[in-house]
Amino acid sequence: MGKTTDFRYNTGATKVPWAAVGENYNAEDLMAVIRFLMQGEGKEYEDAIEAVWKQVQKLDAVATPPGKLSLAKNVEAAEAASNEYLKTDSSTFVTNATAGFEIAYKYANLKEGDEVIVPAITFVATMAYPLSIGCKLVFADVDPRTLNMDPADVAKKITPKTKMIVPVHLAGYPVDMDPIMELAKKHDIVVLEDAAHAFGAMYKGKMIGTIGDFASFSFHEVKNITSFGEGGIVTTTIPGYDGELKRARFLGLDFTCPIKDWLYNITPIQGKYGPFVASNNSSTTEIQGLGLARQIARNEKIIAERRAAAEYLNRRLAVCDAIIPCKLDDADIKPTYHMYLLQIDPAKAGGTIQQLKKKLEEKGVTNIPHFGPLYRFNVVHTILGIDPDEVAKTCPVCEEVFYKRFTHLPLYGLDEEQLIYMADAILESVAEMQAGK
Ligand SMILES: Cc1ncc(COP(=O)(O)O)c(C=O)c1O
Repeated sequence: MGKTTDFRYNTGATKVPWAAVGENYNAEDLMAVIRFLMQGEGKEYEDAIEAVWKQVQKLDAVATPPGKLSLAKNVEAAEAASNEYLKTDSSTFVTNATAGFEIAYKYANLKEGDEVIVPAITFVATMAYPLSIGCKLVFADVDPRTLNMDPADVAKKITPKTKMIVPVHLAGYPVDMDPIMELAKKHDIVVLEDAAHAFGAMYKGKMIGTIGDFASFSFHEVKNITSFGEGGIVTTTIPGYDGELKRARFLGLDFTCPIKDWLYNITPIQGKYGPFVASNNSSTTEIQGLGLARQIARNEKIIAERRAAAEYLNRRLAVCDAIIPCKLDDADIKPTYHMYLLQIDPAKAGGTIQQLKKKLEEKGVTNIPHFGPLYRFNVVHTILGIDPDEVAKTCPVCEEVFYKRFTHLPLYGLDEEQLIYMADAILESVAEMQAGK
């Protein structure tokens, strides 16, 4: 039995088994899934569905159910695929990246008043847990090229109360990790990488997921790969901590420990400074495991397609000196190209990114209101009791880039025509701004 398997329902061959699954699925259910995953309409589609149904219903008579729907061999297979890909042995498949963050935050035994340094620009999931337990969030200003946490500003904002640094590899472009790890080592700080966008990214020859104390990846449906809509992998570099991650995923249950007196073992999880209670169940399903392993197998191909789209945009936009090219692979980094980082020089573009975004929207090029200055989110300034304008003064680059210089654009799932249209729309919009329109 693997480390992941939930032994509670594994009663094996017996006269009265304890069924792992309350109710099984049948051929009709499977057809509903096929119809959901492969949608269509019209006669050709319905004919194809009818042909499939004729075959699928034969399974009812001959097939046996999987027996186990959660935390079993397919979850383990996805973890093994992730381990091999990331070159780690700690991949733990959880319900989402946020669940992975929570385990890492708990490892640091965070308590009220502790300080956590987060980048000024990210998604709220990055810091929801420390905010919820009364920690002080400290906002590091960002690097104007990548919008990632600027290590020089992190250095300035470390205090004796700093317990964690949380770099975010925004849009899959790796953070400059060496100086961050040096600072963390020097001040004995736990590093959690928000790698939600960065499955497959590399920094100086190392896979993201093998650098900080923890990294958590997202497989939510809008990420590069998904496990049927939701999912996450959390990894650690803390020696021997893999088993704690697996137990922390599910309320501290120890699946590797033999059961004595019909009482299974639930123990606290080992944190940096003392034990903590794993208060969440972030177990994943076998179907998710199946889906994730298959998508991990094609991750490199997906990244290559995204890179090709980013290269195309860079080539097309190079004619306009008001547009700053998006960073591509170089000797130090390999991004996942989760999104295209469009940046402009407002002085040359004749306006700000906010104006450009509006023009793009009018032309039908989607923007996602997603990442912004964290301290301007209502939940953050209300709970922390801070004045966002005062914090803004400590993050001048963030203010400049967010309001004047950058936006994220999609890179995947676009056909050639859409990619060409997007490049044209950007160039036309900048030209209009330059002409004062
Ligand atoms: C930067 C960032 N961090 C964290 C998350 C949270 O990921 P999940 O939805 O898997 O919890 C997201 C998701 O959109 C994200 O964009």
